[in-house]
Amino acid sequence: MSPCAKDLAFVRFRAPDLDKMETYLTDFGLVRAARTDDALYMRGTDDAPFFHVTHKGDADFVGLAFLMPDLSDLEALTSMEGAGSIEDIDEPGGGKRVVFTDPNGFRVEAVADRDSVGALPYLRTTPANDALSQPRRGETLRTPAGPAQVKRLGHCVINAIEFRTSEAWYKERFGLVTSDEVEIEKDVPLGAFLRCDQGETYVDHHTLFLVGAGKAGFNHAAFEVVHVDDLMAGHSHLKAQDYEHEWGIGRHVLGSQVFDYWRDPWGHTLEHWTDGDLFNNQTPPAKQPIDQLLGVQWGPAAPPTMGG
Ligand SMILES: [Fe+2]
Repeated sequence: MSPCAKDLAFVRFRAPDLDKMETYLTDFGLVRAARTDDALYMRGTDDAPFFHVTHKGDADFVGLAFLMPDLSDLEALTSMEGAGSIEDIDEPGGGKRVVFTDPNGFRVEAVADRDSVGALPYLRTTPANDALSQPRRGETLRTPAGPAQVKRLGHCVINAIEFRTSEAWYKERFGLVTSDEVEIEKDVPLGAFLRCDQGETYVDHHTLFLVGAGKAGFNHAAFEVVHVDDLMAGHSHLKAQDYEHEWGIGRHVLGSQVFDYWRDPWGHTLEHWTDGDLFNNQTPPAKQPIDQLLGVQWGPAAPPTMGG
């Protein structure tokens, strides 16, 4: 049985101007964890030491990392084809890792034994009332202006050269399971939403989405914010700074989350999301027609730039 990742740990980028990246990510709702002459580490309110890394260099997506439950999982991974040996992580939070290169040429790290850092307080926790539930009684709701507060990295979407090859590669190493496979037509897959297998524990509908795009590419990385009010506050803040908005605000069909997509200064798409589906080992895999992929329950239609 393959090791089962618990979650994503981080995404790794390169960019020529770390000051510019830090300003953008701060406006997006991340918090500086550490900064060196040639690297920027950003975190969220959760207790992970960082989940977004930028190395100084030509702008590009470098890769992603999965969080493994413990060191024995790293040992198991070293027997897999293409695995490096277990090495120390010389970055905030320490820990150990095994490094691979995926079939698309991206660096994929399996990490374990990272330090936890203290969680950060939330600015916007006042519950919303609706017609079915009124948890807020005797108090007003006032939303502080400013960036959304990003809690954690939720998922990453990779454009794969060949979907089935990448699907097998990631499932074999990280124990991912299929939530929804998207079909161009019957029995012709485009890609799939894959989640972590944590048994009876409910996890996000997708942690990795592989799109069979015919060529390798970064599609987007998605970060969970506190709730819809926080996402809306973040939208207003990013809009006021004149950043490039890509798609939203809307509610996806597959995964059900409320989404809002923005581009970083070098064109990498980053998503704010909240209120997504949670599945466990009682949820069978499903097949979905392609119109469900970019369809919305409400909100604007997907722009042609999405994922490119
Ligand atoms: Fe997404």
